Amino acid sequence: MKRAVAGAALVWGVTLGAMAQGAPPQNHLMPQPAELRSTQGSLPLSASFQVATPVFHDDRLDRAIARTLTHLEATTAQPLRTEIGRGAAGATLRVEVQGAGDAVPSYGEDESYTLDVTATQAELAAKTVVGAIRGLATLEQLLERTPTGYAWPAVHIADEPRYHWRGLLIDCGRHFEPVPVIERTLDAMAAVKLNVFHWHLTEDQGFRIESKLYPKLTALGSDGEFYTQEQARAIVAYARDRGIRVVPEFDIPGHSRSWFVGYPELASGPGPYTIRRDFGIEDAAMDPTRESTYVFLDRFIGEMTTIFPDAYLHIGGDESNGKSWKANSQIVAFMKAHNLADTGALQAYFNQRVLKLLQKHNRQMVGWDEVLNPALPKDVVVQSWRGAQALTQSAQGGYRGILSQPYYLDGMKSAKEHYLADIVPPDSPLTAEQRQLILGGEICMWGEQLNQATIDSRIWPRAAAIAERFWSPATVNNVDDMYRRLAVVSLQLEQLGLTHLSHQEVALRGLAGSQDVRPLAFLASVTEPVSFGERYRQQHTSQLTPLTNFVDAIRPDPPSRHESNMLTHHYLAKPGVENPAYGALVSFYQRCLQQSPAVDEAVRAVPQLQGVQPRAEQLPVLAGIALAALQYTAHGTHAPAGWKQQSLATLQAAEAPAGIVRFTFLAPLRELVQAVAE
Ligand code: ACM
Repeated sequence: MKRAVAGAALVWGVTLGAMAQGAPPQNHLMPQPAELRSTQGSLPLSASFQVATPVFHDDRLDRAIARTLTHLEATTAQPLRTEIGRGAAGATLRVEVQGAGDAVPSYGEDESYTLDVTATQAELAAKTVVGAIRGLATLEQLLERTPTGYAWPAVHIADEPRYHWRGLLIDCGRHFEPVPVIERTLDAMAAVKLNVFHWHLTEDQGFRIESKLYPKLTALGSDGEFYTQEQARAIVAYARDRGIRVVPEFDIPGHSRSWFVGYPELASGPGPYTIRRDFGIEDAAMDPTRESTYVFLDRFIGEMTTIFPDAYLHIGGDESNGKSWKANSQIVAFMKAHNLADTGALQAYFNQRVLKLLQKHNRQMVGWDEVLNPALPKDVVVQSWRGAQALTQSAQGGYRGILSQPYYLDGMKSAKEHYLADIVPPDSPLTAEQRQLILGGEICMWGEQLNQATIDSRIWPRAAAIAERFWSPATVNNVDDMYRRLAVVSLQLEQLGLTHLSHQEVALRGLAGSQDVRPLAFLASVTEPVSFGERYRQQHTSQLTPLTNFVDAIRPDPPSRHESNMLTHHYLAKPGVENPAYGALVSFYQRCLQQSPAVDEAVRAVPQLQGVQPRAEQLPVLAGIALAALQYTAHGTHAPAGWKQQSLATLQAAEAPAGIVRFTFLAPLRELVQAVAE
């Protein structure tokens, strides 16, 4: 029996309920495989577990298997045999791979695999080593705790991605991210089958990659925080080991002030230049009219291709406002002489010149929306950050595209919102042929408001849900089930070394100056950071802003957001004390009420928490409104005249900015109040 995975996710427990061990296993896989069928029995993980690669093996496959064994040992505290057999006899796990695959992981490389688990053995089959790496990630997630030990449920899985370009951008320009952060990010990416690390290496605020040809780029443009070529090559190798491509971005002609600190002759203005500390669109830009600019870029790109072997290279191209071009009479004269009507046309001229350099160095060009210009040939890839409509336009114009806008993590949206935004929505006007031009999607983690301590808490685990959107069939879209599995994969990622959950306690201890952070942790559990834009408006965050406040300790989309939504909707479908959601909601809001005095005291004790004081004061008031609304609706009684209006006004007041954090439960609470009869 074969069935859609969306169904499988919900009925798995029922189907496998007959397993000998008793407790039904749960499908925690994220992303969900394209095809999954459960069968009878389970395969225990024991000390005699042994892996063999009877068909093909190379060092990369051996290292991938060794990592899986290490993870399984860590999970189970069970020592495993680490030598890999080459014959099939006696092997518990047979990894049958047809060949090495591409020397440099490439767009469109076969990532498919099948995984068959029976009561006696597991067989992982793939055409390429990258396919096997994907299958090993599934195998790790599939392992179950059972009353009699660790075991894999018997399954047949046939899996392949929906999109071949499944990326994560990390902006190391605004805030530098040390090598271990990049490495653990790559580990997490591999665990959820993301396959493109988009490395945003240069920004107004920092130039992060060593150039031996132009050493002043980092000597003067990086504050000493950059990747040596040796480190960058090691990252590329680390990524390749996990079947992940590395696409470097050198953002030009705008977002480039850090280049000009060491090489002011590249710029359109007279200089001198300093590293930019604040954020927003920068006026300084490269001079596209001087031949020396292209000589520099030619040599620089040539050097970078010796570090980054991927076929694609990203030239940025976004948010170049043309101001410094219009302010330079020599550039204005150049535009006139070359019939370039406006600065957009000048940027298109620049892009065409850069494209030729990329072609010379055997690289395909990727650029943000703004590079889209009829003057550009169709082999340029457009990465859309201004939304699905921009992507549609570029595909209609015949360009290949990657969608990013719905996957901007700095918007501090919920995993649900990102998850439900498909790359090509069902109502897209694109023809089947145009859809072929959509390479995939990319999650973007811009670096203005994060640093090495907080970055994991901003990316994971929301990114795992988006990874599923990119990999799994479109029909896998049950939000409740996504959150159920996300909670599990989140813990798995933490075991890999990610700090998205543990950071909160560490940061709260730092704030409180105390081991006991329970009251602050409670406040953290019902609040989340406001969006990038709102934080910027309230704080004018710069590169020099310390990121050690309450907002930096907490994380977006904590469980209370989805739980309060889900419970409230269940409850409002049939209000009454007998509705199980009633008890859960009462208990949640009573906890808010009970915790409030301690929260208030803890906040008052810390000078830099004064900003969140209003939240501490609002918490019991909101909880009181919720408990009253639950009573009215559960018993069908009427609230006194004016209660509803006053309560809604209180809710609205709680939406006003305070401490750059917001409550997670205000939207469902509003629905609850609206449901009260007056
Ligand atoms: C961008 O967000 N400016 C690419």
